[in-house]
Amino acid sequence: MTNVAIRAVELGKIYRIGERQSYGTIRDVIAAATRTRLRRLSQLRRAAPAVEPSTDDEWIWALDGVSFELAEGEVVGIIGRNGAGKSTLLKILARITEPTKGHADIAGRIGALLEVGTGFHPELTGRENVALNGAILGMRRAEIDRKFDEIVAFAGVERFIDTPVKRYSTGMHARLAFAVAAHVEPDILIVDEVLAVGDAEFQKRCMGKMGHAASSGRTVLFVSHNMAAIESLCSRAIWLEGGRCVADGAPGEVISRYLATSFSALTERLWPDPDDAPGNDRVRIRSARVRPEGGSAQDPVYVTTDFVVEFEYWNLRAGARLNLSLHVYNEQGVKVFNALPMEERVWQGRPFPRGLFRDACHVPGNLLNDGLHRIEIMVVEDSAHLIHQMEDVLMFEVRDVGETREGWYGEWEGAVRPRLEWETTYHGPVAAEAQAIR
Ligand SMILES: Nc1ncnc2c1ncn2[C@@H]1O[C@H](COP(=O)(O)OP(=O)(O)OP(=O)(O)O)[C@@H](O)[C@H]1O
Ligand SMILES: [Mg+2]
Repeated sequence: MTNVAIRAVELGKIYRIGERQSYGTIRDVIAAATRTRLRRLSQLRRAAPAVEPSTDDEWIWALDGVSFELAEGEVVGIIGRNGAGKSTLLKILARITEPTKGHADIAGRIGALLEVGTGFHPELTGRENVALNGAILGMRRAEIDRKFDEIVAFAGVERFIDTPVKRYSTGMHARLAFAVAAHVEPDILIVDEVLAVGDAEFQKRCMGKMGHAASSGRTVLFVSHNMAAIESLCSRAIWLEGGRCVADGAPGEVISRYLATSFSALTERLWPDPDDAPGNDRVRIRSARVRPEGGSAQDPVYVTTDFVVEFEYWNLRAGARLNLSLHVYNEQGVKVFNALPMEERVWQGRPFPRGLFRDACHVPGNLLNDGLHRIEIMVVEDSAHLIHQMEDVLMFEVRDVGETREGWYGEWEGAVRPRLEWETTYHGPVAAEAQAIR
């Protein structure tokens, strides 16, 4: 029988908007400034238990009745939009803050790396903070001394260890905090967004450390906006929205549902009636779809997936020579490519009879980078005259895959992400070495 590591029962946390605790971080402040989530206010005024909101205060349930049970050794990813309550949940489990309602039972020692800044004292040096933080996390003095050098080396802050941490960069700060949390050898490792900071090398070490904790039977709870990291590290994902649990299950499925709602993907459209389909008296669009090769518009497209963009349209003028022109843009608004049916052998350059046509453009995998893409379509006559144009006719998410990244989970730069053939060859020792050998 497996043991329960964490049991959360109807956890809830209410905050007064604008009221910030002393561990508030830059991220917290930004979240507060952009906070618009007053949606549950009326319900809140009725339900607020221990606290009595006065009329001119505004309150928010950051977490609202979340229950789950984690077995020992489970590796769980928490996903959700900004302000969904992810960090609040972790802070409650790490005992940094008390729940307003419900309770959490936790079996074992917790190592927590919460939002940048949480738990470190800015006036104290790196060395003092390691000691203080280690002690808070339950390490004995001797244990801290024994692991001190390793912690500092892992964080790569040797030169600054006697400098107050307020002089550290965000990256240094996060590296040291993660190093402490990971070296506590906790039964339960709780990590919030660590991959957002730090360079590629450090991210790799963090993932390695979490992977190691997971494979050695520790329970890991990991908040990230990085779906590739969640999918490759976790065996289960919990999706929070507005303080509530929306889905809890296999990472692939939960992530698919989350992406489908959060990026307003639009992978399939149909206008069955030619009279009010988009277009004009020459052409009307019947349908548009993007789908993996051999799959449906509901199936995910990964960076490695071959996919098809399909359009159906009615040609309304006998004898028109039509062609489609497909434009694909990325999230940054960069036009990634423009495709035309130049390789199409049957209809290109021939007069079209009146009737329904279907075009399919096949796009190979390992071309687009991950992220949201949108498609614009143009219908062109005689290769020269634009007769109809639709912007944003389709929107689809190209999803990342963990396997091809070799442990690096940062943003992959560039408008495209081809996998190119590459050779390295060796051409003998450098001159000085050649002399030494002689
Ligand atoms: N100390 C606090 N005081 C007041 N409101 C808070 C406090 N901490 C969080 N909140 C509010 O509670 C809600 C949930 O915040 P939380 O930080 O848990 O979200 P999150 O899911 O971690 O978001 P992100 O992805 O941006 O990190 C937000 O509306 C946030 O502004
Ligand atoms: Mg957060």
